[in-house]
Amino acid sequence: MLEVRHDIVRAMGAFLSEAERRRAEWLKSERDRRRFIACRGQLRQVLASRLGIAPSDVELEYGQLGKPHLSHRMPSRNLRFSVSRSEDVAVIALSTGQEVGVDIEAIRPVPEADEIAALCFSASDYESYAALGPDDRLAGFFRRWTRLEAISKGLGCGLGHPGSSDDKDWGVRSFIPKTGYLGCVVVRK
Ligand SMILES: CC(C)(COP(=O)(O)OP(=O)(O)OC[C@H]1O[C@@H](n2cnc3c(N)ncnc32)[C@H](O)[C@@H]1OP(=O)(O)O)[C@@H](O)C(=O)NCCC(=O)NCCS
Repeated sequence: MLEVRHDIVRAMGAFLSEAERRRAEWLKSERDRRRFIACRGQLRQVLASRLGIAPSDVELEYGQLGKPHLSHRMPSRNLRFSVSRSEDVAVIALSTGQEVGVDIEAIRPVPEADEIAALCFSASDYESYAALGPDDRLAGFFRRWTRLEAISKGLGCGLGHPGSSDDKDWGVRSFIPKTGYLGCVVVRK
């Protein structure tokens, strides 16, 4: 949960690197700053407990399109992670060895859902989405969308990567992180 007490946010802030603190400072709203710090601080705590080091000693590096990963100087190069945030909730997925991707979304009206589905979903996903009745459409959209995003985050590429909708290489599990949200976690087979 990203809405945590101010003293906890302050304590989390102490775990962050200089670059992360600068990133927090650039965020315009106080709420976004707080949520970013709470998320990054908890990510550092979770990784640190797995690595047996202090949260502030966790070193992160970034792929070409911004995917964070542990630096090669960290004691376990096998530990993979993926993070997703939506409103006041964040999820951290961890995996040993295999690449992992996670996405969560607060379910909210998406007036342009049909257009997005036509543009981004695979042919079979779009076909099954289009066959849904009006009551199932929104959840059906977010179920497919979170899977698509989780796979593109596992790959470390943005949406729009040619392979990003291909789920045959991934173990896929949808979940509900909190009432009103949908999530999907994928692990490379
Ligand atoms: C990665 C991406 C799918 C994130 O989607 P999102 O729904 O906005 O955000 P989420 O909360 O689910 O994920 C954010 C987290 O994903 C991670 N992340 C960032 N870039 C990533 C990437 N390329 N691959 C995997 N994970 C990534 C970070 O941990 C980030 O957390 P942080 O903001 O606290 O640092 C999206 O930003 C993207 O497509 N990026 C690729 C780069 C790109 O195409 N940029 C164009 C910008 S115009």
